[in-house]
Amino acid sequence: MASPSHVAASAKSASIQSRPACPLFNGLRRSSFEQCTFSFADLQKIVAPRSSKGVVSMEGTGKFFVGGNWKCNGTKDSIAKLVGDLNASKLEDGVEIIVAPPFLYISQVKDSLTAPIQISAQNSWVGKGGAFTGEISAEQLKDIGCNWVILGHSERRHIIGETNEFTGKKAAYALEQNLKVIACVGEKLEEREAGKTFDVCYEQLKAFADEVSSWDNIVIAYEPVWAIGTGKVATPQQAQEVHAAIREWMAKNVSPEAAKKVRIIYGGSVNGKNCAELAKQEDIDGFLVGGASLKGAEFATICNSVTAKKP
Ligand code: PGA
Repeated sequence: MASPSHVAASAKSASIQSRPACPLFNGLRRSSFEQCTFSFADLQKIVAPRSSKGVVSMEGTGKFFVGGNWKCNGTKDSIAKLVGDLNASKLEDGVEIIVAPPFLYISQVKDSLTAPIQISAQNSWVGKGGAFTGEISAEQLKDIGCNWVILGHSERRHIIGETNEFTGKKAAYALEQNLKVIACVGEKLEEREAGKTFDVCYEQLKAFADEVSSWDNIVIAYEPVWAIGTGKVATPQQAQEVHAAIREWMAKNVSPEAAKKVRIIYGGSVNGKNCAELAKQEDIDGFLVGGASLKGAEFATICNSVTAKKP
């Protein structure tokens, strides 16, 4: 018998196919994004019928996913304390959890973490290692038992200057080396205010799609730049709207199967208080958490917001 999530997924697939197509997204290799006239208003028409269902479930068919991005924070001692708190926390079943310590501390975390949490890197080099001062290769990450990497984080795009194309190539290389990838996309405040949220996300997605041959080992993180580290979280509706658009883009430009399967997680000022309302949104399949992931008990609360998914 089909499980409820499969029923929901096939109903979703049917609805994806029957929705009006954005005429300009006909294939992965489309040369220009500027002409797309697909607006927030258009999208609302598409997502409104689903969002009003009132059913709290996951549109994606994968497990709820929560990542803790520790960024450039911590010392041996503070990380030992954080790992101790995570080990002592009670985590719900049915959640895939990763933490991304700074490279230097990956081995320390890996050796001391007893909670069912996997380790991610925060970045990896675009190709095979060699004379690339300051870089860490995908092979080296695998060598120390790290199975995930976050790529395309807005801090790397906008502070370090990594381009969409470079980020797409990094993802392809990491996947080839059997790392799983958390692929981040998201618009800046001025882009949102200029009505370019979808265009920016679609361009970033396309750069990944142009390079990778399969999305099976990719989790997409929608992280609006204006919400990262600002305490200004997207409303559940704002996040849901973009997540649904991303899934729609995947259905049209990759495949309906990939769209159903891929997990789309939200990041940007998620905390123990706002996670449950966000988690109730159909297309929010989990979170990427920065600041609040540095506190073990609060991070556990966010992981446990999977309970909000249950009707
Ligand atoms: P934040 O960061 O939770 O501190 O806003 C999220 C992220 O950058 O992944």
